[in-house]
Amino acid sequence: MNLLATVSPLEDVKAEMLLVTVFQGEKELTGRLAWLDRILGGQIGRLLSTGEVRGQYKEFSTLHVTGIGAKRVLLIGLGKKEDLNLDKIRSVVAIAARNCRRIHAKSLAVDSFTTYGIDPRESAKAIAEGVVLGLYKFTKYMSEKTAEKYKDKIEELTIADSSSDNIEELRAGFSEGYTVACNTNFVRDLVNEPASYMTPEMFVETACQKMKDLNVTINILDENDILKEGMGAFYAVGRSANCAPPRMLEIAYEGNPNGPWVGLVGKGITFDSGGYDLKPPSSMERMHCDMGGAGAVLGAIKSVAELGLKVNCRAVMPLAENMVAGNSYKPGDIVKSLEGKTIEIISTDAEGRLLLADALTWIRKKGVEYLIDIATLTGAVVIALGNQLSGIMGTDSVLVNAIKESGEKCGERVWELPLYKEFAMQIKSDVADLQNSGGRGAGTITAGMFLKEFVGEAKWAHIDIAGTSTTNASIHQYIKNPYVPKEGATAVGVRLLYQFLADYAKSNSKLS
Ligand code: BES
Ligand code: ZN
Ligand code: MN
Repeated sequence: MNLLATVSPLEDVKAEMLLVTVFQGEKELTGRLAWLDRILGGQIGRLLSTGEVRGQYKEFSTLHVTGIGAKRVLLIGLGKKEDLNLDKIRSVVAIAARNCRRIHAKSLAVDSFTTYGIDPRESAKAIAEGVVLGLYKFTKYMSEKTAEKYKDKIEELTIADSSSDNIEELRAGFSEGYTVACNTNFVRDLVNEPASYMTPEMFVETACQKMKDLNVTINILDENDILKEGMGAFYAVGRSANCAPPRMLEIAYEGNPNGPWVGLVGKGITFDSGGYDLKPPSSMERMHCDMGGAGAVLGAIKSVAELGLKVNCRAVMPLAENMVAGNSYKPGDIVKSLEGKTIEIISTDAEGRLLLADALTWIRKKGVEYLIDIATLTGAVVIALGNQLSGIMGTDSVLVNAIKESGEKCGERVWELPLYKEFAMQIKSDVADLQNSGGRGAGTITAGMFLKEFVGEAKWAHIDIAGTSTTNASIHQYIKNPYVPKEGATAVGVRLLYQFLADYAKSNSKLS
C-alpha cells in the first residue's frame, strides 16, 4: 500500500474516495470542509441543514461528485465532538476502507484529523490501522470464488493536511500504524490457522521465517531440552501430543544496550482438547486459537524490532498441544516445576498455567526489570468482564496502571482484578505445594494467584485474554467494532503490548 501525506486543500486531493467527517449536531460546515462544500455547490451543507445527515457515530452517505480531485465523497458521522478519540478514528476509517472494497475503489484519501486537535502522529497511526485492520479477512482456505469479495485492496492511502508542519509526524505515524497493523493481521492469520497445520513446530518455523531479517536472537528448545532443563510442568502438558511435540521459542531484541529488559511470556497452546478432563464439543470448537497469547507476544516483538524501538525485550513462547493419549498427564498426577514447587494436577484442562509457570521462571532467570504474561487462560474472565475487556492482575501497580493506560490509547482495554492473598487458600494442595485449579469461584483470580507463585520479586503483570482473543457473530452483534473481524482471531495484545513498549521506550525505561 502506498502511503502519502500531503499538504492540500480537500478539493485538490486525487482519489476514488475522499473521507470527510462531521460531528453530531453540526449545522454548519467550517474550515476546510466549508471550502470543499463551496466548490461542490453546497451539496454537503444541504444534507446537514435538511437533517438528512445528522453526524451520528458511524452513520455514512456517499456522494458522487464532479469538479474536485476525488470521484466520491464519503461523509461519516463521528458522534459528539467532545467524545472524539483515536478509537473512533480507527473505526470510521475502517468503515471507509470496507466501503472502498465493496465498490472496488483502490484509492482512499482522508482529511487529516489534526483539524480537530488530534496529534498528527497519532492521527496518521490510527488512520493506517483503521484501513489495514478493517480490511482483514482470513481467506487462506477459501477457493478463489468464495474469496472474491475480499480480494480488492486499497493501493493508495492519502492523508490531506492543511499544514506542512505536520507532514513529518504524519509520515512517522503512518509507518508506525501500518507496521503494527500488518503484524496484527499476520498474528490473526497465525491464530486462525487450524491446529493440524499450526503445530508447535510450525509456529516456530513461521515465526523464524518472519523474523529472519530482523535484528533479534532466537533460541529454540525441543521436547528433550524442555525435559532436560527441568520444566516438568510444561513437559507434562506437552508430552501428550506424540504427533506434535512441544517447543519453546525465545526471541530477544536489544534496542537499548545496557538498559533494563522487559520480559514477555505468551501462552501457546496450539490446540486445547482439555486432556483427560476433556472439553465438551461446544467448548472445544475454538481451541485451535488457544495460542493467542504467544501470537500477541510474537506480533509485539516483531513490531518493536521492525520499528527499531529503544527498548530491550525478551519474548518467551511455550508451545504445546493439550491432548488425550496413553502417555498424557492425568488428574491426580504431581509434577515438578522448574522453580522447584510441586503441583497436583486437579484438572488437565488447567494446562495454560503449567506452561506459563515454567516459562516465567525461565525468563526471570535471565533478568528482567518488568515481566508481562498474556494468555487465553480462563473461561471465568468471560463471565467477569465479557468480550470487550481483558483482565489484568499483577504485583506492581505502576506496571499495571501503565498497561491500562496503553490499553486506553490503542483501544485494547484492560480491567484489573485483585490478587488478595486470601485467594491463595483456593490453590493449596494436600499432597503437593500447589494445585492447578482453584475451583469455580474467582477462577480468573486463582489462575493469577497460581502464576504469582512463580514470579518471585519480579514486577509482574498478567493479562487474561480468553474473552477478547477471538470473536464470533453473536459477540459481534453487540460489539460491532469495524476494525475487528466478525469471526475468529482478533490478535488482541499485539497492539496493547506494542503500545506499552513504545510508551516505555518514550519514558526512557522509567515508568511512573
Ligand atoms: N484455554 C482455556 C480457557 C479458555 C476458555 C480460552 C474459553 C478461551 C475461551 C483454558 O485452558 C481452560 O480450559 N481453562 C479452564 C480452567 C479450569 C479447569 C480451572 C476453564 O476456564 O474452564
Ligand atoms: Zn487452554
Ligand atoms: Mn484448558
